[in-house]
Amino acid sequence: MAKNSLFLLPGDGIGPEIMAEVETIIAFLNRKGLTDFSLDRGLVGGSAYDAHGVAISEADMAKALAADAVLFGAVGGPKWDGVPYDCRPEAGLLRLRKDLGLFANLRPAICYPALADASSLKRDVVEGLDILIVRELTGGVYFGEPKEIVTLENGEKRAVDTQVYTTHEIERIARVAFDLAKARNGRVSSAEKRNVMKSGVLWNQVVTKIGREEYADVKLDHILADNCAMQLVRYPKQFDVILTDNLFGDVLSDIGAMLTGSLGMLPSASLGAPDAATGKRKALYEPVHGSAPDIAGTGAANPIAMIASFGMALRYSFGLIDLAGKLDEAIARVLGKGLRTKDIAQKGEATVDTRAMGAAILAEFEALV
Ligand code: NAI
Ligand code: MG
Repeated sequence: MAKNSLFLLPGDGIGPEIMAEVETIIAFLNRKGLTDFSLDRGLVGGSAYDAHGVAISEADMAKALAADAVLFGAVGGPKWDGVPYDCRPEAGLLRLRKDLGLFANLRPAICYPALADASSLKRDVVEGLDILIVRELTGGVYFGEPKEIVTLENGEKRAVDTQVYTTHEIERIARVAFDLAKARNGRVSSAEKRNVMKSGVLWNQVVTKIGREEYADVKLDHILADNCAMQLVRYPKQFDVILTDNLFGDVLSDIGAMLTGSLGMLPSASLGAPDAATGKRKALYEPVHGSAPDIAGTGAANPIAMIASFGMALRYSFGLIDLAGKLDEAIARVLGKGLRTKDIAQKGEATVDTRAMGAAILAEFEALV
C-alpha cells in the first residue's frame, strides 16, 4: 500500500514551534503502526523568501500538489514588511490555495467545557457548542470582475466589486456541506441574502435543488446572512453545519471563532475537488491564527489550533475518524485538568509553555489509543 503523504510547511514566527508538537504526535502514530505517514518538509512565507527569494519555491509547490495533505503553520512578520509585493509571505498561502483549488474552507467552532467561561457569551449559551462553518473560498466578491476604482467625468470616484457565482461553484460547495452534515447531525443552514442579491437567489435555488435531489436525508433550512450573524450570538447551538459564500463566510466564521475563546484554539481545513481517478481531495490544514511574532521564541504559543488542524486532516483526508475523535478528546482532557497556555489562562492561573502543552496532549492521546 502506498504511504499516506503529508507535506509540512511550518512557515514563520510561531509556525515551526507549533508544528513541532504535531510532528511528535505523527511520530508516535507511525511508531505504534496506527498510521503510515510519509513526511516531507518545505519552506513557505518569509523563511522561503530568505532561502529562495520567493514566497514558495516551485519545488515545494510541486510537493504540495503531490501530497495527500498539506499541514501549514503560519506566515509573515515585521521582518518581511519591505519585500516586493509578489514575494510577501501571504503570497505563498494564496498560491497554495489557488493551485490546489481549495474552494471549501471548513471552520469548526467547538466550545470545550473547561473553557466555557473564557467566551464573551454566557456559559450555557456556548457550553457543548459544536458547529461547522463551510465557506466558499475561491469565488464571490473577492474575485469577481470588474473590480476597480474609476474616476468619473465630474472628478468623483466610483469603486466596483462584483459578486459572481455560477451554478457549478454553488453545487460543489453545497455538496461538501451536505456530505459533512451527513456525518454529523444531519442539518445544513444555508446563509445568503436572496432578498437583495441575485447571487443569493441563485445560491438559494441551487442549494435547494442539490438538497432535494441528492441529500433527502439531510435537513436543510435557509437563513438570511444578517439574521445568521444575530442567531450565532443569540443561540449558536441551533446550528449544525452553516453553508455560505466567501464574503458572508469571512464574517460569520470570525463570529463563530470568537464564540469559543482564543485564536490559539481554532483549526481550519481547506479542501479542493475530488480527483476523478482516486476520489481524494487536495487539502490544506492550518490554524486560523497568524505567525504571532510578538510571542515567537518565547514558548508562549498555544499549539492546540495546529494540533486540532492535524486532527481535521486525520478526519477529512484520511478517514481516521476514531483517531481524530481521540485526539479531540485528549485536548479536552488536558484542558479539563487545568493546563493552560498564557492565551487561555484566566488571571492568576498557572501556565505551561508550548512544549509542555504538546507533551500533555500526546500523553493523553497515548492513553486513549
Ligand atoms: P496573529 O494571529 O499572528 O496574532 C494575533 C494575536 O493573537 C497576537 O497577540 C498573538 O500573540 C496571539 N496569538 C495568535 N496565535 C496564537 C497562539 N497559537 N498562541 C497564543 N497566542 C496566539 O495575527 P497578527 O498579529 O495580526 O499577525 C501577525 C503576522 O501573521 C502578520 O505578518 C500577518 O500578516 C500574519 N498572518 C498570517 C496568517 C496565516 O499565515 N494564515 C493569518 C493571519 C495573519
Ligand atoms: Mg476574516
